[in-house]
Amino acid sequence: MGRESVNLCRLGALVLLLGIATLFLPTTRPEHIVSEPNFKEPITNVTAPVGREAILACIVKDLGVYKVAWLRVDTQTILTITNHVITKNHRIEVTHSDHLTWFLHIREVRETDRGWYMCQINTDPMKSQRGYLDVVVPPDILDYPTSTDMVVKEGSNVTLRCATTGSPPPTITWRREDGRPIPLGHGQEVMSVDGPVFNITKVDRLHMGSYLCIASNGVPPSVSKRITLIVHFPPVIWVQNQLVGARQGHQMTLGCHSEAFPKSINYWTRDTGEIVPQGGKYEPILFEDAYKVHMNLTIRSVGPQDFGAYKCVSKNALGDTDGSIKLYEIPSASGSRSPYGNGTKYKGKQRKNNYGNNFIDDDQNMLKERDLKLRGRKENGREDEEDYEDSSGARGTISSNHFPGWLTLFPVVALLLSLTFLPHESTLELRTLRPA
Ligand SMILES: *[C@@H]1O[C@H](CO)[C@@H](O)[C@H](O)[C@H]1NC(C)=O
Ligand SMILES: *[C@@H]1O[C@H](CO)[C@@H](O)[C@H](O)[C@H]1NC(C)=O
Ligand SMILES: *[C@@H]1O[C@H](CO)[C@@H](O)[C@H](O)[C@H]1NC(C)=O
Ligand SMILES: *[C@@H]1O[C@H](CO)[C@@H](O)[C@H](O)[C@H]1NC(C)=O
Ligand SMILES: *[C@@H]1O[C@H](CO)[C@@H](O)[C@H](O)[C@H]1NC(C)=O
Repeated sequence: MGRESVNLCRLGALVLLLGIATLFLPTTRPEHIVSEPNFKEPITNVTAPVGREAILACIVKDLGVYKVAWLRVDTQTILTITNHVITKNHRIEVTHSDHLTWFLHIREVRETDRGWYMCQINTDPMKSQRGYLDVVVPPDILDYPTSTDMVVKEGSNVTLRCATTGSPPPTITWRREDGRPIPLGHGQEVMSVDGPVFNITKVDRLHMGSYLCIASNGVPPSVSKRITLIVHFPPVIWVQNQLVGARQGHQMTLGCHSEAFPKSINYWTRDTGEIVPQGGKYEPILFEDAYKVHMNLTIRSVGPQDFGAYKCVSKNALGDTDGSIKLYEIPSASGSRSPYGNGTKYKGKQRKNNYGNNFIDDDQNMLKERDLKLRGRKENGREDEEDYEDSSGARGTISSNHFPGWLTLFPVVALLLSLTFLPHESTLELRTLRPA
C-alpha cells in the first residue's frame, strides 16, 4: 500500500510538472494527487524568555503542491503563507527545511505573544494543528509597594512587603542578609520566611538588621531587595557584680553591660552624681558591638576616697537608665598594705575574678566578691553566659560551703559586713527610666 502510494505520488508529481499552472491555484483540488499531505508529528510547545527568539516547528509530509500557513489562534490572524510573511509584525519570520519542517520565528518575544499558534495546510477541508508558546519573564521587585528601610519601636508590629512581577509568578523568600536565624518569638527561630508579606509581631531588638526579599520563578536571574529594619529602644543596663571588694592600692575594674538603640551616651558617676573624670587614675573603656555596650571603669590604684557607690549611666533619645555598683574596702591584714602578706599568713592560692580583681582562697579572706555579689535573674536569657546563681529568698545568707572558716572564726564581723554591704534588693535590678 505504502509503495503503491509512493509510486502514485511520483506519477502524480510527473503529472504536476505538466500542469504547473495548478500550483498557483491551490484552492482547486488536484484530483490526480492520491496521497494527501499531513502532519508528521504534533507541534512541540515552546517556552521562551521575554526578549529572546521563539521558534515553533510544524513538520509535514507529502506537502506536494499544498501550502503551509501559520496563524495566531486568539486573533485569527494569518502570520505567514509558505515563505511569505503576511502580518505587519516585523518580528515574525518564516523558514523551512526542504518543505518538510516549517519554522515560525518570533523575534524579541513579548508577553503578548504568549498563546496558541496554528499550522495549517490548505487542503479541502483544511488540516491544522496547534502549538502553545509560553513567554516567561524573570522576576522583578517593584519599588512600590515593596517596603523600604524601616525604623520602628521595640514591641510594635512590623509588616515587610515584597511586591514582585514575573511569569510564572515568583515565589518570595525572606532571609537575613547576615545569614543569622530569624526569631519568631517563644524561643523559635527559622532561617527563612516564605511569602510576599512578612509579619513580625512585637518586634524585638534581635530582629534588628538587614533582610533580603528574594524573588525567583525558575527564570534566571532571581532578584532580591534589601530592607533594613532598625529597632529603637531605651537603654537597659545589667550589672553583673553590684558589690565589689577591693584593697587599697590595688587596681580594680567595675563593669556594666548596656543595650540601647539609637546608640546611648555612656558614662560613670559617683553617688554624689558627679561624673567620674576620665584620665588620671580612672580609665573608662567602652566595648561596643551593634546595640550592645560593655562599660568598664578601671581604677588604677584604689584610694580611700574611691570606696562607695558608682553608677554606670546610659542615655539615648528614648530614655535613660543606670546601674549601681558599690565598691567596698577589703581590710588589709595586720596593717600590711600588701594584699598577700609576706607569704606566711596566707596559704591560699591567688586567683582572679571576672574583672581581674585579686582574691585569695583563704579562710581569712571572707569577703569574696564572688560570693557576696548579687545573683541576678536573667533577662530573657540575653546576657552573656554568666554563672549566676539563684539566691532569691536567701538575702544576705552566705553559703557555708564558701565560707567554712569565716563563720566560725568571725561571726560578728560577718554579720556586720553583710548588713553593711548587702543592698536592699536581692535580685539584679533592671531599671529603665522612660523618657520624662
Ligand atoms: C502545550 O501547552 C498547553 C498549554 O499550556 C497544554 O495544555 C498542552 O498540554 C501542552 N502540550 C504538550 C504536548 O505539552
Ligand atoms: C500586634 O499584633 C498582636 C497579635 O496580632 C496584637 O495582639 C497586638 O495588639 C498588636 N500590637 C499593636 C501595637 O498593634
Ligand atoms: C500581616 O499583618 C497584617 C496586618 O498588619 C494582616 O492584615 C495580614 O493578614 C498579616 N499577614 C500574615 C501573612 O500574617
Ligand atoms: C611575715 O610577717 C610576720 C609579721 O608581720 C613576721 O613575723 C614573719 O617573720 C614574716 N615572714 C617572712 C617570711 O617574712
Ligand atoms: C572589662 O575589664 C575586664 C578586666 O579588665 C576584662 O576582663 C573584660 O574583658 C573587660 N570587658 C570587656 C567587654 O572587654
